[in-house]
Amino acid sequence: MRQQLLTGIAAFALAFGTGAALADEEAELVINGEIEIVTKTAAPAHLDGALEEIMSGWRFRSDETQAMQADDFDNPAMLMVEDAMVAWETAAGTEGKSCMDCHGAPEDMAGVKPTYPKWNEAAGELRTIQMQVNDCRVNRMGAEAEKVDSTAALAMEALLSSVSRGMPMNVAIDGPVADAWQQGHDMYYTRYGQLELSCANCHEQNYGNMIRADHLSQGQVNGFPTYRLGDAKLIGAQTRFKGCIRDTRAETFDPGAPEFIALELYVASRGNGLSVEGPAVRN
Ligand code: HEC
Ligand code: HEC
Repeated sequence: MRQQLLTGIAAFALAFGTGAALADEEAELVINGEIEIVTKTAAPAHLDGALEEIMSGWRFRSDETQAMQADDFDNPAMLMVEDAMVAWETAAGTEGKSCMDCHGAPEDMAGVKPTYPKWNEAAGELRTIQMQVNDCRVNRMGAEAEKVDSTAALAMEALLSSVSRGMPMNVAIDGPVADAWQQGHDMYYTRYGQLELSCANCHEQNYGNMIRADHLSQGQVNGFPTYRLGDAKLIGAQTRFKGCIRDTRAETFDPGAPEFIALELYVASRGNGLSVEGPAVRN
């Protein structure tokens, strides 16, 4: 295993190094001076033997990036959340209904985001929160579905996340989602691309180390959607997965593919116990 990893690295001069510590891995996050965020905690039972502690990606970012997330006035993603608040109250589609007409204030959705991706009994399918919102748009409002990880879909997801900040991630992994969870698990440990690297090679075995100029985190999704300073926009979890797999020089799936829905569930479950902190700020 180690040998394969090194072969891949040698071929592409991709090296893991310890490098200078860029971030304060012991810092604590309190948003707006009041929302306490758990950014490090004991790993959930299903990670026995793999990880003892789970940590938010926030811990691995620079002081400046960390600070931006501590105050909504400094978090650029909160502008998108404001856009989504307008959308929340605005009627759309042939039924002339808004989200608010059925759901009340966005704050009434507190506690929903930590449970997604989640099984929908009536439809008999595993749904991301974007899929659930689209179901409401299409089947309850008579509106068009938003494209996966589009600006509008991510803004709404950011709004739904923001009202759950501080609550522990808590996705179910058994019952009707057990098969999808297993599929996501297997993908996580599959080596992709010419570099033959799995998610685990980077985010389980090398978190805390440097890869190129980046400080590797555990690749958690509790901060999604995240505002990426480099792109100056929100990015969805599945788009992030796509980028990571592409970096291994592999062909990959597109956001919305069943494989990525399963992977999102599995990765979310690795963060069970960390606080929801989206929309987070990342480089
Ligand atoms: C006509 C009423 C109606 C409208 C309008 C509506 N929804 Fe829903 N929504 C529902 C119902 C009913 C459910 C529960 C459906 C289910 O469990 O299958 C639901 C479920 C949800 C959930 C999942 C809640 C949970 O506990 O898992 C989310 C998130 C959501 N809606 C978001 C939205 C958003 C965002 C909008 C506007 C874009 C919207 N809804 C518009 C009726 C509506
Ligand atoms: C070659 C190493 C590498 C591989 C393989 C890799 N990633 Fe990443 N990933 C990174 C780097 C570098 C970043 C940006 C810094 C960080 O947060 O770790 C990142 C970031 C992430 C993030 C964002 C974390 C945050 O808090 O913002 C997620 C989620 C993620 N990766 C998931 C995955 C998944 C799932 C896989 C497998 C399909 C994967 N990664 C494979 C290198 C990798």
